[in-house]
Amino acid sequence: MMASQPLRIVVGISGGIAAYKALSVIRGFVSDGHEVRVVATEAAFEFVGRSSLEALSRNPVSVGLYDDVASVTHVELGQSADVVVVAPATANTIAQIAHGFASNLLGNVLLATRGVVVVAPAMHTEMWDNVATQENVALLRARGIIVVGPERGALTGGDVGIGRMTEPEQIISATYAALSARGASSLRGKQILISGGGTREPIDPVRFIGNRSSGTQAVALARAAHARGARVTLVYAHLDIELPSGIEAVPVSTAEDMLECMIRLAPDHDAVIMAAAVADYRVDHVSDAKIKKSASAGVRTLTLVETVDVLASLSALPHRSFTLVGFAAETARGDALLQLASEKFVRKGCDVLVANEVSWDAGIGTADNDVVILVRSSSTGSPPDVLRASGDKLSVAHRILDVLV
Ligand SMILES: Cc1cc2nc3c(=O)[nH]c(=O)nc-3n(C[C@H](O)[C@H](O)[C@H](O)COP(=O)(O)O)c2cc1C
Repeated sequence: MMASQPLRIVVGISGGIAAYKALSVIRGFVSDGHEVRVVATEAAFEFVGRSSLEALSRNPVSVGLYDDVASVTHVELGQSADVVVVAPATANTIAQIAHGFASNLLGNVLLATRGVVVVAPAMHTEMWDNVATQENVALLRARGIIVVGPERGALTGGDVGIGRMTEPEQIISATYAALSARGASSLRGKQILISGGGTREPIDPVRFIGNRSSGTQAVALARAAHARGARVTLVYAHLDIELPSGIEAVPVSTAEDMLECMIRLAPDHDAVIMAAAVADYRVDHVSDAKIKKSASAGVRTLTLVETVDVLASLSALPHRSFTLVGFAAETARGDALLQLASEKFVRKGCDVLVANEVSWDAGIGTADNDVVILVRSSSTGSPPDVLRASGDKLSVAHRILDVLV
């Protein structure tokens, strides 16, 4: 996978039952290659052990305000953080942040940071609904702190209601989205080549074989990568939407044009994302004259031949140094979609394959997407890791870029 600047992340853990889920938050950030420092409150240690936190974060855990005073930890941790993620955030810790209290190390770190702050509240419904908590949360939001959740679901006492901490994977995604929105970008200095839109294979001077791709997902990827600081080149076939600003855009028409352009540009890029819908077939002979209806006697047969395989050609480039992301649009769902995607992943030799179910009204030409992301495993010979993302195409684009990073 492409190397990128690791983030310096402080995970703050306060004293609620959901503290056990903070272990997955830490693990997720560490496995994405980031530097994680944990700051736990005294109460957090009623719920999770220091050894787990230190083993997963691969760093000593900071708790006491007056420990290691020579390193000025209370300021240094906050100053050096790109982002502070408080998960879980108790009602008490939320009140502390809202009113600027610095009576423990976490409070000091939060006052000292200029990084992005993400807070994932977790508490019983009554505590969450309490006016004091609601007003404190409103203060946090008003100051630009990202509040993720809480969710409705089963709570510790066996009751069901709002107050459950958002799942770790979503806290991680929300953190990356917040960072990219603030320009604390994960792709600064990287060059990303993206293809998008639907190719058009001519039949005669007025007709072509095309497809319903609007280019929305590719344009969303271009916007998201640009927002994260990448230099983006978009090689686009037919689009139904406007090109984004701030990127280099190169128009192409047919699969053959797309191949020529991508092969020429790819070696200068860190990652190549093949999101275009490239025609699988073209006519064997393009007529120079408009084909007349009268000559067809009711039936017209066109002989189709396979087009070039752009993704496989990129994958087979000698000395390939860029990360290659492919797309697969399939009219299959569930296990069948995963099976087709896995076969394509192996056949095409890409590093990441994004598979989406398409139908008359889903996946293609729509605003939202629901995808399965296959990622080459770090251990040789193992099957790819499987992730999922759904939502509007910009959110899905950010999830794909998170994987890329
Ligand atoms: C078993 C138990 C579970 C608790 N769970 C929560 C919780 O989920 N959310 C919360 O806001 N407080 C919870 N509390 C209360 C906090 O632990 C308490 O307010 C503490 O002072 C929080 O300190 P801290 O914010 O410095 O970590 C719980 C207390 C106990 C005894």
